[in-house]
Amino acid sequence: MDFTNYFKKRQEQINQTLSYYFPENLHNSPLQKFFGDEVWAKDSYEIFHYALFSSGKRIRPFLVLEAAHLFDLEDEKMGKMGKMEKILPVACAVEILHNYTLVHDDIIDEDDLRRGKPTIYKKYGIANAILIGDELFNCAIKMLTIADLSNEIIISLINELLDASSLIVLGQVLDIKSDNNAIPSEKQAIYIEVVNKCKTARLLAASMKLGAIASNAQPEQIKQLYDYGTYIGIAFQIMDDILDVIGDSDTFGKPIGSDERRQKVTYVSVFGLEEAKKKAKDIIQKAINILEPFGEKAQMLKELANYIIERKY
Ligand code: IPE
Ligand code: IPE
Ligand code: MG
Ligand code: MG
Ligand code: MG
Repeated sequence: MDFTNYFKKRQEQINQTLSYYFPENLHNSPLQKFFGDEVWAKDSYEIFHYALFSSGKRIRPFLVLEAAHLFDLEDEKMGKMGKMEKILPVACAVEILHNYTLVHDDIIDEDDLRRGKPTIYKKYGIANAILIGDELFNCAIKMLTIADLSNEIIISLINELLDASSLIVLGQVLDIKSDNNAIPSEKQAIYIEVVNKCKTARLLAASMKLGAIASNAQPEQIKQLYDYGTYIGIAFQIMDDILDVIGDSDTFGKPIGSDERRQKVTYVSVFGLEEAKKKAKDIIQKAINILEPFGEKAQMLKELANYIIERKY
């Protein structure tokens, strides 16, 4: 199967699982109680659903599943859930947490468009966007607690996801500080590296780590996969900064020029377009090299690394 189809199948698998836990009608959700009395919870659930089911690429849960795939935690035929059932709630957890960060990020950046649709704060107001972001965060942790894994593993997973989440907050706080070009030019190169590692790369690294921990991987393997996640995460944000300049809004699903409007320090503003592209390419090569010990089974992770710098959205 080529990468495009493989990725699509994984996205379907992730979306199906998310739909199982969070169907359109709250009444049918196995987590119904978590959202409170059904009659009253409808309003908040509608916003929650809108946030989660717009067309996200589902890259982070893909990483969780592919990390587990390296350790045979799934049936031979992809699409059949099999042992993968154990890891699917974990994959959902990282996606849901990511969605919380997006809902809050759009308030912070005052962006009107996300995944080709009005952002939550634009459609439902700032207060609702804050609250539904909070609920997405709650739900992410909830998903880990219901995974069919040992208590010891679940605690490690929660710990890792909370660590990543804290660094995202730090990354976002630092990110805001760079608005209006407020960082002295000699500090910008190091600054952008720290910000991007925290606000973006940390969650991609955590996604790999969660998949590996849930699969009982060895510490050395967990470290290698975590490093792969960090590298592709940095390249991912470099590409995001590039697409914010040269992308097409209809394809990207987000406004173009958002970073420039806020006079943010980005990889493009610091290094220029060509140098930023080169940096992303070099770092993707490092990510691919790290996967060598995992052989054939890591093929789709290698292709994902290339996809990250070739993508248009
Ligand atoms: C957007 O992430 C936020 C960044 C870290 C740049 P994605 O591009 O993965 O967003 P979706 O989930 O596919 O919409
Ligand atoms: C934010 O980076 C990354 C998050 C932690 C959500 P951006 O602000 O560049 O993300 P986009 O471009 O709005 O998706
Ligand atoms: Mg933003
Ligand atoms: Mg932002
Ligand atoms: Mg961006």
